[in-house]
Amino acid sequence: MSTHELPILIDRRSALPLAAQLATALRTAILDGTLRRGEPLPSTRALADSVRLSRGTVVAAYDQLAGEGYLHSTPGSATRVMVERHGAATVARPPQSDTETSSTEPAPPGATPARQSRDDVAPRSVIDLAPGHPSTRTLVDPAWTAAWRFAVAASGRSDSPPATGTLQLRAAIADHVRRARGLTCRPEDVIVTAGTSDALAGIGLALTDLAGGGAPAPTHTPRIAVEDPGYPTARRVLRRVGAQLEAVHTDDHGIDLAGLAALSPGPHAVLVTPSHQYPLGGSLSVQGRLDLLDWARAADAVVIEDDYDSEFRFGTAPLPALATLDTSGRVALVGSFSKTVTPWIRCGYIVATGDLGRALRLVRDDLGPSVSGVQQAALARYLESGGLARNVTRVRREYAHRRALVIAKLGPLPGVRLGGLDGGLHVVVHTDGLPGAAGRADASALVAAAAERGVRVAALTDYAVLGRGQHGLVLGYGAPTDLELSRALDVLIDLLTAAAAH
Ligand SMILES: Cc1ncc(COP(=O)(O)O)c(C=O)c1O
Repeated sequence: MSTHELPILIDRRSALPLAAQLATALRTAILDGTLRRGEPLPSTRALADSVRLSRGTVVAAYDQLAGEGYLHSTPGSATRVMVERHGAATVARPPQSDTETSSTEPAPPGATPARQSRDDVAPRSVIDLAPGHPSTRTLVDPAWTAAWRFAVAASGRSDSPPATGTLQLRAAIADHVRRARGLTCRPEDVIVTAGTSDALAGIGLALTDLAGGGAPAPTHTPRIAVEDPGYPTARRVLRRVGAQLEAVHTDDHGIDLAGLAALSPGPHAVLVTPSHQYPLGGSLSVQGRLDLLDWARAADAVVIEDDYDSEFRFGTAPLPALATLDTSGRVALVGSFSKTVTPWIRCGYIVATGDLGRALRLVRDDLGPSVSGVQQAALARYLESGGLARNVTRVRREYAHRRALVIAKLGPLPGVRLGGLDGGLHVVVHTDGLPGAAGRADASALVAAAAERGVRVAALTDYAVLGRGQHGLVLGYGAPTDLELSRALDVLIDLLTAAAAH
């Protein structure tokens, strides 16, 4: 059935906004099976004319339903229904079959699903709120496809890409970093990496050389201070390349600078997430940033700035990178396209100057390029065409909506405090305020109980080094649809309410 034949009743005297009324009418039509999966909806202009609403109102309703997972919009082609009504078991996500790829990778309507091992398919019933997974629904985008077409057409080369990345991609990244992170740098300061882990491995090796006075000297062990709690993958990578780690207590305001300064002997470097601490979600104040840089100068240390998701801020503009305050070439800015595009491409960068920049380039020369030339060409094209900036804008709208859902559902629960809400795509549910034993226990029992009910979340203690202190859950809201998120939050509400009642 086409929407022209749908009984869309708009009450212009109602207090409910017109876009919300239209979204409700379309949602109802999908849920009662009037609109079927794969069916195209009219263009926003055609529907606006037929129901006599403004086009902006129709766009807002379509956006809302796309965010909830009912509709799929591809720029340049029809918006289609994504949900099949199968009696009471309806879920607002593309139907999964044995051949579908994974829970966070919905195939676009009409696409032929690739055959895949069952081992790789997430269990049907699990809603994955483990942090770190972005939404990739907006990536079905002509700019992305065109970038790859261009890259493949230009791939018949017999040489290897430069070790630090192609000039085209380094220039596009320098431009991106200037626009998105406020940092002016030259393409020569940029090193292309296969994501953050690859960047940290390179930095660990470069620090080994620097600790040995410049020559490759595997016997010199760099000491690197890390946030506690912090990013476990980073710790594993740095240890793997021979670093010795020192945990520094970190709270909602960022790393404890007095604790850092008290380390003896002083570390060669510190790894921080100043714009959105991982996982707690706070940010380091400008004063804290200046003090950190003063410490680094006095201690002759390097600051590794892991800037993994700063493009996503809610309510406030993204904070400029810490590296923008650096005047002595001590900060290595590590960025990743895992959140702004997809972790599937494994691509990121380091911006580094001075001794560290030189040491990093020597490491890269020895190891060779870590990202294929085809991929670098595609990503460069995507950045140059403005495709990435548009994708960030689209996906930010989705995240803002889901973040609001988390606040509305979990915010009012007694004994629970939500943290890390200003940015990124995860939130911390602090449970220290729950009464009695529940407030003193780490959240692993809650994690296990949620898993039994088909919801995957992480415990704050999974991120701790020394295990001091805070208890709670870490929830990622990037990848699930609104309906999946809503169902998962209902499970968590049950569990947290029961914990509060004990
Ligand atoms: C703190 C932190 N840094 C960086 C990343 C991105 O890592 P990669 O670029 O290796 O995908 C993540 C991903 O979840 C993260 O949580």
